[in-house]
Amino acid sequence: MGHSAAVWDYRAATEITKDWNGVDKIVLRSPRGASARVSLHGGQVTSWRNEQGEELLFTSSKAIFKPPKAVRGGIPICFPQFGNCGSLEQHGFARNKIWTIDENPPPLGPNDSHAKSFIDLLLKPSEEDLKCWPHSFEFRLRVSLAADGSLALISRIRNVNGKPFSFSFAYHTYLSVSDISEVRIEGLETLDYLDNLCQKERFTEQGDAITFESEVDRVYLSTPNVVAVLDHERKRTYVIRKDGLPDVVVWNPWEKKSKSMVDFGDDEYKQMLCVDGAVIEKPVTLKPGEEWTGRVELSVVASTLCSEQFDVQRGMGF
Ligand code: BG6
Repeated sequence: MGHSAAVWDYRAATEITKDWNGVDKIVLRSPRGASARVSLHGGQVTSWRNEQGEELLFTSSKAIFKPPKAVRGGIPICFPQFGNCGSLEQHGFARNKIWTIDENPPPLGPNDSHAKSFIDLLLKPSEEDLKCWPHSFEFRLRVSLAADGSLALISRIRNVNGKPFSFSFAYHTYLSVSDISEVRIEGLETLDYLDNLCQKERFTEQGDAITFESEVDRVYLSTPNVVAVLDHERKRTYVIRKDGLPDVVVWNPWEKKSKSMVDFGDDEYKQMLCVDGAVIEKPVTLKPGEEWTGRVELSVVASTLCSEQFDVQRGMGF
Protein backbone atom coordinates (compact mmCIF):
# COMPACT_ATOMS: atom_id res chain seq x y z
CA MET A 1 0.00 0.00 0.00
CA GLY A 2 1.27 3.47 -0.80
CA HIS A 3 1.33 6.29 1.73
CA SER A 4 0.25 9.83 1.24
CA ALA A 5 3.13 12.24 0.63
CA ALA A 6 1.62 14.63 3.20
CA VAL A 7 2.11 12.26 6.16
CA TRP A 8 5.21 10.49 4.91
CA ASP A 9 8.10 10.72 7.35
CA TYR A 10 10.99 11.53 5.02
CA ARG A 11 13.58 11.23 7.79
CA ALA A 12 12.42 7.72 8.68
CA ALA A 13 12.45 6.88 4.95
CA THR A 14 16.25 7.04 5.01
CA GLU A 15 17.71 3.78 6.24
CA ILE A 16 21.41 3.08 6.83
CA THR A 17 22.69 -0.51 6.75
CA LYS A 18 25.93 -2.27 5.84
CA ASP A 19 26.75 -4.02 2.60
CA TRP A 20 28.62 -7.33 2.55
CA ASN A 21 31.98 -5.53 2.67
CA GLY A 22 30.95 -3.77 5.88
CA VAL A 23 30.60 -0.44 4.04
CA ASP A 24 27.53 1.67 4.89
CA LYS A 25 24.80 1.95 2.30
CA ILE A 26 21.79 4.19 2.50
CA VAL A 27 18.36 3.38 1.16
CA LEU A 28 15.99 6.26 0.37
CA ARG A 29 12.26 5.57 -0.08
CA SER A 30 9.40 7.59 -1.52
CA PRO A 31 5.81 7.44 -0.22
CA ARG A 32 4.63 5.52 -3.31
CA GLY A 33 7.37 2.90 -3.22
CA ALA A 34 10.22 4.26 -5.37
CA SER A 35 13.68 3.79 -3.86
CA ALA A 36 17.34 4.60 -4.32
CA ARG A 37 20.46 3.10 -2.79
CA VAL A 38 23.71 4.97 -2.20
CA SER A 39 27.01 3.47 -1.08
CA LEU A 40 29.68 5.22 0.94
CA HIS A 41 32.05 3.45 -1.43
CA GLY A 42 32.46 6.19 -4.02
CA GLY A 43 29.36 8.09 -2.88
CA GLN A 44 27.91 6.03 -5.69
CA VAL A 45 24.20 5.58 -6.35
CA THR A 46 23.96 1.83 -6.99
CA SER A 47 20.21 1.45 -7.50
CA TRP A 48 17.19 3.55 -8.40
CA ARG A 49 13.81 1.88 -8.64
CA ASN A 50 10.43 3.19 -9.73
CA GLU A 51 7.13 2.67 -7.90
CA GLN A 52 6.72 -0.72 -9.57
CA GLY A 53 10.09 -1.82 -8.17
CA GLU A 54 11.74 -1.85 -11.63
CA GLU A 55 15.45 -1.02 -11.65
CA LEU A 56 16.23 2.06 -13.74
CA LEU A 57 20.02 2.02 -13.51
CA PHE A 58 22.24 -0.62 -15.07
CA THR A 59 24.72 -2.59 -12.99
CA SER A 60 26.82 -5.28 -14.63
CA SER A 61 26.27 -8.89 -13.57
CA LYS A 62 30.09 -9.02 -13.44
CA ALA A 63 30.51 -5.88 -11.32
CA ILE A 64 33.11 -6.17 -8.58
CA PHE A 65 31.69 -4.78 -5.33
CA LYS A 66 34.96 -4.32 -3.55
CA PRO A 67 36.92 -1.17 -2.86
CA PRO A 68 39.26 0.22 -4.14
CA LYS A 69 37.65 -0.07 -7.59
CA ALA A 70 34.39 1.60 -8.59
CA VAL A 71 31.39 -0.64 -9.20
CA ARG A 72 30.51 -1.05 -12.90
CA GLY A 73 27.07 0.53 -12.93
CA GLY A 74 24.84 2.98 -11.10
CA ILE A 75 26.25 6.52 -10.96
CA PRO A 76 30.00 6.65 -10.28
CA ILE A 77 31.26 10.17 -9.55
CA CYS A 78 34.20 11.24 -11.71
CA PHE A 79 36.31 13.81 -9.87
CA PRO A 80 38.80 15.56 -9.94
CA GLN A 81 39.10 14.53 -13.56
CA PHE A 82 37.01 12.89 -16.22
CA GLY A 83 39.07 10.70 -18.51
CA ASN A 84 42.66 9.74 -18.31
CA CYS A 85 45.38 12.34 -18.38
CA GLY A 86 48.37 13.12 -16.22
CA SER A 87 49.24 11.03 -13.19
CA LEU A 88 45.69 10.83 -11.81
CA GLU A 89 43.81 7.58 -12.18
CA GLN A 90 41.13 7.28 -14.90
CA HIS A 91 38.05 9.37 -13.96
CA GLY A 92 39.72 10.53 -10.72
CA PHE A 93 39.79 9.02 -7.25
CA ALA A 94 36.42 10.11 -5.78
CA ARG A 95 34.60 7.01 -7.08
CA ASN A 96 37.12 4.72 -5.39
CA LYS A 97 37.15 6.31 -1.93
CA ILE A 98 35.09 5.67 1.17
CA TRP A 99 32.96 8.75 1.83
CA THR A 100 31.45 9.71 5.19
CA ILE A 101 27.95 10.77 6.13
CA ASP A 102 27.85 14.55 6.50
CA GLU A 103 25.99 15.13 9.77
CA ASN A 104 26.03 18.87 9.54
CA PRO A 105 25.96 20.04 5.91
CA PRO A 106 25.64 23.74 5.10
CA PRO A 107 22.00 24.37 4.17
CA LEU A 108 20.66 24.03 0.65
CA GLY A 109 17.55 25.80 -0.68
CA PRO A 110 14.08 24.77 0.63
CA ASN A 111 13.29 22.99 -2.67
CA ASP A 112 16.26 20.71 -2.11
CA SER A 113 14.84 19.32 1.13
CA HIS A 114 11.05 19.67 0.99
CA ALA A 115 9.10 16.44 0.25
CA LYS A 116 12.26 14.46 -0.35
CA SER A 117 14.15 11.75 1.46
CA PHE A 118 17.84 12.48 1.23
CA ILE A 119 21.33 11.80 2.51
CA ASP A 120 24.34 14.11 2.66
CA LEU A 121 27.80 12.68 2.08
CA LEU A 122 31.26 14.20 2.40
CA LEU A 123 34.66 13.51 0.87
CA LYS A 124 37.87 15.17 1.98
CA PRO A 125 41.27 14.27 0.56
CA SER A 126 43.41 11.76 2.42
CA GLU A 127 47.20 12.16 2.76
CA GLU A 128 47.52 9.72 -0.12
CA ASP A 129 45.11 11.75 -2.31
CA LEU A 130 47.08 14.93 -1.59
CA LYS A 131 50.22 13.25 -2.92
CA CYS A 132 48.72 12.73 -6.37
CA TRP A 133 46.45 15.82 -6.34
CA PRO A 134 47.83 18.42 -3.90
CA HIS A 135 44.66 20.45 -3.36
CA SER A 136 42.49 20.59 -0.26
CA PHE A 137 38.80 20.40 -0.98
CA GLU A 138 35.49 19.51 0.63
CA PHE A 139 33.15 17.63 -1.64
CA ARG A 140 29.56 17.52 -0.38
CA LEU A 141 27.09 15.30 -2.17
CA ARG A 142 23.37 15.26 -1.53
CA VAL A 143 21.37 12.41 -3.03
CA SER A 144 17.62 12.83 -2.78
CA LEU A 145 14.51 10.98 -3.86
CA ALA A 146 11.39 13.10 -4.38
CA ALA A 147 7.79 12.07 -3.73
CA ASP A 148 7.32 11.50 -7.48
CA GLY A 149 10.30 9.10 -7.55
CA SER A 150 12.74 11.42 -9.29
CA LEU A 151 16.34 11.21 -8.20
CA ALA A 152 18.56 14.26 -7.68
CA LEU A 153 22.28 14.56 -7.03
CA ILE A 154 23.76 17.84 -5.91
CA SER A 155 27.54 18.18 -5.70
CA ARG A 156 29.16 21.09 -3.91
CA ILE A 157 32.93 21.31 -4.18
CA ARG A 158 34.74 23.90 -2.09
CA ASN A 159 38.34 25.02 -2.32
CA VAL A 160 39.78 24.98 1.22
CA ASN A 161 43.29 25.29 -0.22
CA GLY A 162 45.58 28.30 -0.21
CA LYS A 163 45.75 28.34 -4.03
CA PRO A 164 43.31 28.00 -6.93
CA PHE A 165 42.70 24.57 -8.44
CA SER A 166 40.89 23.22 -11.50
CA PHE A 167 38.94 20.02 -12.04
CA SER A 168 36.63 18.24 -14.44
CA PHE A 169 33.64 16.25 -13.31
CA ALA A 170 30.92 13.81 -14.45
CA TYR A 171 27.97 11.89 -13.02
CA HIS A 172 28.75 8.72 -14.98
CA THR A 173 25.13 7.60 -15.22
CA TYR A 174 24.53 4.01 -16.41
CA LEU A 175 20.90 3.96 -17.59
CA SER A 176 19.21 0.60 -17.95
CA VAL A 177 17.69 0.17 -21.42
CA SER A 178 15.80 -2.70 -23.07
CA ASP A 179 17.85 -2.85 -26.27
CA ILE A 180 20.41 -0.23 -27.28
CA SER A 181 19.29 -0.44 -30.95
CA GLU A 182 15.84 0.81 -29.90
CA VAL A 183 17.08 3.82 -27.96
CA ARG A 184 17.51 7.42 -28.99
CA ILE A 185 18.69 10.58 -27.31
CA GLU A 186 16.98 13.89 -27.93
CA GLY A 187 18.45 17.27 -27.07
CA LEU A 188 21.95 16.85 -28.51
CA GLU A 189 21.12 17.28 -32.22
CA THR A 190 23.31 19.73 -34.16
CA LEU A 191 25.75 20.16 -31.27
CA ASP A 192 29.51 19.89 -31.40
CA TYR A 193 31.18 16.94 -29.68
CA LEU A 194 34.65 15.66 -28.93
CA ASP A 195 35.07 12.09 -30.11
CA ASN A 196 37.14 9.96 -27.72
CA LEU A 197 37.36 7.33 -30.46
CA CYS A 198 39.17 9.87 -32.72
CA GLN A 199 41.73 11.44 -30.34
CA LYS A 200 39.12 13.89 -29.04
CA GLU A 201 38.64 15.43 -32.48
CA ARG A 202 35.76 17.91 -32.68
CA PHE A 203 32.75 17.07 -34.89
CA THR A 204 29.26 18.46 -35.34
CA GLU A 205 26.29 16.15 -34.79
CA GLN A 206 24.11 15.69 -37.86
CA GLY A 207 20.63 14.24 -38.05
CA ASP A 208 17.53 14.33 -35.90
CA ALA A 209 18.31 12.33 -32.81
CA ILE A 210 21.17 10.14 -31.70
CA THR A 211 20.77 6.40 -32.26
CA PHE A 212 23.23 3.54 -31.75
CA GLU A 213 24.75 0.96 -34.05
CA SER A 214 28.40 0.86 -32.93
CA GLU A 215 30.71 2.00 -30.14
CA VAL A 216 30.12 5.59 -29.02
CA ASP A 217 32.37 7.58 -26.68
CA ARG A 218 31.70 11.31 -26.99
CA VAL A 219 31.58 14.52 -25.03
CA TYR A 220 28.81 16.82 -26.33
CA LEU A 221 29.54 20.47 -25.68
CA SER A 222 27.38 23.39 -24.53
CA THR A 223 24.32 21.19 -24.17
CA PRO A 224 20.81 22.29 -23.13
CA ASN A 225 19.78 21.74 -19.51
CA VAL A 226 17.30 19.02 -20.46
CA VAL A 227 18.15 15.88 -22.42
CA ALA A 228 15.82 12.91 -23.00
CA VAL A 229 16.68 9.25 -23.53
CA LEU A 230 13.82 7.39 -25.21
CA ASP A 231 13.53 3.63 -24.83
CA HIS A 232 10.93 2.55 -27.39
CA GLU A 233 10.65 -1.06 -26.40
CA ARG A 234 9.97 -0.30 -22.73
CA LYS A 235 7.94 2.79 -23.58
CA ARG A 236 10.03 4.64 -21.05
CA THR A 237 11.77 7.99 -21.35
CA TYR A 238 14.45 9.19 -18.99
CA VAL A 239 14.49 12.94 -18.59
CA ILE A 240 17.81 14.35 -17.44
CA ARG A 241 17.73 17.90 -16.07
CA LYS A 242 21.00 19.47 -15.09
CA ASP A 243 22.54 22.66 -13.90
CA GLY A 244 26.19 23.75 -13.78
CA LEU A 245 27.07 20.86 -16.12
CA PRO A 246 27.47 22.18 -19.69
CA ASP A 247 28.72 18.93 -21.25
CA VAL A 248 27.10 15.53 -21.77
CA VAL A 249 29.09 12.32 -22.13
CA VAL A 250 27.49 9.56 -24.20
CA TRP A 251 29.12 6.16 -23.92
CA ASN A 252 28.32 2.65 -25.06
CA PRO A 253 31.25 0.23 -25.40
CA TRP A 254 29.53 -2.02 -27.98
CA GLU A 255 30.73 -5.55 -28.71
CA LYS A 256 34.52 -5.45 -28.93
CA LYS A 257 35.24 -3.18 -25.96
CA SER A 258 32.69 -5.07 -23.81
CA LYS A 259 34.77 -8.20 -24.24
CA SER A 260 37.88 -6.42 -23.03
CA MET A 261 36.34 -5.26 -19.72
CA VAL A 262 36.68 -7.83 -16.94
CA ASP A 263 33.77 -6.44 -14.94
CA PHE A 264 31.29 -6.28 -17.83
CA GLY A 265 29.40 -9.08 -19.60
CA ASP A 266 30.04 -9.64 -23.32
CA ASP A 267 26.44 -8.79 -24.32
CA GLU A 268 25.61 -6.30 -21.63
CA TYR A 269 26.27 -3.31 -23.88
CA LYS A 270 22.78 -3.96 -25.27
CA GLN A 271 21.15 -3.14 -21.93
CA MET A 272 22.98 0.02 -20.93
CA LEU A 273 23.75 3.53 -22.02
CA CYS A 274 25.82 6.09 -20.15
CA VAL A 275 24.53 9.65 -20.44
CA ASP A 276 26.40 11.88 -18.02
CA GLY A 277 25.91 15.47 -16.97
CA ALA A 278 29.51 16.71 -16.93
CA VAL A 279 31.93 19.58 -17.05
CA ILE A 280 34.93 18.56 -19.14
CA GLU A 281 35.88 20.84 -22.01
CA LYS A 282 36.33 23.91 -19.82
CA PRO A 283 37.37 22.68 -16.38
CA VAL A 284 36.08 24.50 -13.30
CA THR A 285 38.61 26.72 -11.52
CA LEU A 286 37.98 27.57 -7.87
CA LYS A 287 39.86 30.26 -6.01
CA PRO A 288 40.51 29.75 -2.29
CA GLY A 289 37.19 29.76 -0.45
CA GLU A 290 35.08 29.42 -3.62
CA GLU A 291 32.46 26.71 -4.15
CA TRP A 292 31.03 25.11 -7.28
CA THR A 293 27.66 23.38 -7.54
CA GLY A 294 26.62 20.80 -10.16
CA ARG A 295 23.15 19.26 -10.11
CA VAL A 296 21.40 16.54 -12.00
CA GLU A 297 17.80 15.36 -11.69
CA LEU A 298 16.68 12.11 -13.30
CA SER A 299 13.04 11.28 -13.83
CA VAL A 300 11.08 8.83 -15.94
CA VAL A 301 7.97 9.43 -17.99
CA ALA A 302 5.93 7.02 -20.09
CA SER A 303 6.91 7.36 -23.77
CA THR A 304 3.33 7.48 -24.93
CA LEU A 305 3.94 11.20 -24.75
CA CYS A 306 5.59 12.44 -27.89
CA SER A 307 8.88 14.22 -27.45
CA GLU A 308 7.46 17.69 -28.13
CA GLN A 309 5.48 17.33 -24.95
CA PHE A 310 8.54 17.43 -22.73
CA ASP A 311 8.33 20.57 -20.81
CA VAL A 312 11.83 21.74 -21.50
CA GLN A 313 10.95 25.13 -20.12
CA ARG A 314 10.18 23.62 -16.72
CA GLY A 315 12.57 24.71 -14.01
CA MET A 316 15.21 22.41 -12.71
CA GLY A 317 12.74 20.95 -10.24
CA PHE A 318 15.22 21.08 -7.39
C1 BG6 B 1 33.76 6.58 -20.68
C2 BG6 B 1 35.11 6.88 -21.25
O1 BG6 B 1 32.99 7.67 -20.48
O2 BG6 B 1 33.97 5.82 -19.52
C3 BG6 B 1 35.54 5.55 -21.78
O3 BG6 B 1 35.09 7.88 -22.21
C4 BG6 B 1 35.66 4.57 -20.64
O4 BG6 B 1 36.73 5.68 -22.49
C5 BG6 B 1 34.37 4.53 -19.86
O5 BG6 B 1 35.95 3.30 -21.13
C6 BG6 B 1 34.39 3.66 -18.62
O6 BG6 B 1 35.46 4.00 -17.82
P1 BG6 B 1 35.89 3.10 -16.62
O7 BG6 B 1 37.15 3.71 -16.06
O8 BG6 B 1 34.76 3.14 -15.62
O9 BG6 B 1 36.11 1.73 -17.16
